[in-house]
Amino acid sequence: MKSTRKALGQYMTPGDVARLMASYIPAGTTAVIDLAAGDCSLLRAVAAMHSSVALYGCEIDDAIHRKGQSSLPAARIRSGNGLEVRLQIRAADNSQVSVVANPPYTETEVTPSMTRLLSLAFPDVSTKLGYKRAELYFLARSLLLARKTGGIVSILMPMGFGDGDIYRYYRKSLMANYALLEAIEVQARVFGQTEARTVLLVIDTSKSVTRKVEISRFDAESGKKAVIYRGHLDAGERLDARYQEGRVFAASAQCRLADLGVTIVRGRVSYKESRDLAMPAVHTSDLSRARRGKLDIEVQTKKNAEENAFFSEIVAETGDILLSRTGTRVSWKPIVVKSGRAPITDHVFRIRVPAKQKQRVARAFKHPAFESWLASVSKGVCATVITKKDLMAMPIFESTIKQAA
Ligand SMILES: C[S@@+](CC[C@H](N)C(=O)[O-])C[C@H]1O[C@@H](n2cnc3c(N)ncnc32)[C@H](O)[C@@H]1O
Repeated sequence: MKSTRKALGQYMTPGDVARLMASYIPAGTTAVIDLAAGDCSLLRAVAAMHSSVALYGCEIDDAIHRKGQSSLPAARIRSGNGLEVRLQIRAADNSQVSVVANPPYTETEVTPSMTRLLSLAFPDVSTKLGYKRAELYFLARSLLLARKTGGIVSILMPMGFGDGDIYRYYRKSLMANYALLEAIEVQARVFGQTEARTVLLVIDTSKSVTRKVEISRFDAESGKKAVIYRGHLDAGERLDARYQEGRVFAASAQCRLADLGVTIVRGRVSYKESRDLAMPAVHTSDLSRARRGKLDIEVQTKKNAEENAFFSEIVAETGDILLSRTGTRVSWKPIVVKSGRAPITDHVFRIRVPAKQKQRVARAFKHPAFESWLASVSKGVCATVITKKDLMAMPIFESTIKQAA
């Protein structure tokens, strides 16, 4: 049923993603566990790659449990709640245990035993943020099970774990207490029925700190990973490929906006003042009216022009580039003033480019990497903010993305 499917997060892992996840199980592993085994897609991928590994799991839905168990008779799949059921791993299988997981992404009632799982796995986290998210408890139990023998956890989490605010304390704790080896962005379309953008985390529980992380993107068509970054990350840093791509670009840029004789100023008048003074000024909301990146702005009357000069307003004119400086629901695309002349508000940057560099700068702003770069420099929890300093350091994007060495 559709409602059960959503409530229990019953979206099975596609074959290519399951194979990728199984590929991280190290040679010599004696047992692999999946705490939310579903139809056993993940465990089957493990069995296909590691024929002698013992397979254990839990599944809460009876019908799916029967289906999964019959597809993999050798596996010991228990019927029940994967956050509570005792797995009863045989002594012979217990010397090197790893965990695979694509847990349900749902809200859950939290029991005392679940709270205990979270505090054991993430002892330094004390936040209510995210405490109802089922996937965090599955991550916690997976880490605790694997850590007993220093195994690997290969777990598919919602992308928010890599880039969002709700999970950021857990992301930080994970990187501070375990070795996060890889974060692989898996595009939404692989999952068909879910909206989820996901991130595959590969964690080595035998080490108690993260040193070098590889960030990549999994391309479902080619079935390959494209590596974006490999190196040090501070605990809690964002793990999404787009963000890291922007950082890699910024670090390797040959030429920056500041090198091209560009000037950047922000408006002086606030939106409210401009309304109170009946002084038309271009605000962030006006930028979304641009068509094909171009905008006609209000032509100043002679009286307005005199007033603006008197108040030393920052005025934009034909050929200038305008970009939102801050805002929550604003357009972050730079636009070119097609015609007109008008002051700008203090939420807008005016970027003025020398004539001979205009095309080059316009190309850089339209480059696919511009958005990634912007995501990597913009700051703020509620509203996003870009600073003039960041903008001046913007790389002049000219070619295709180079992979990190
Ligand atoms: C996203 S599916 C993944 C299934 C399978 N591991 C795979 O990768 O294809 C999540 C599965 O977890 C099951 N599930 C939900 N809550 C659970 C719980 N508390 N304990 C065990 N299984 C649970 C769902 O019924 C569903 O089959």
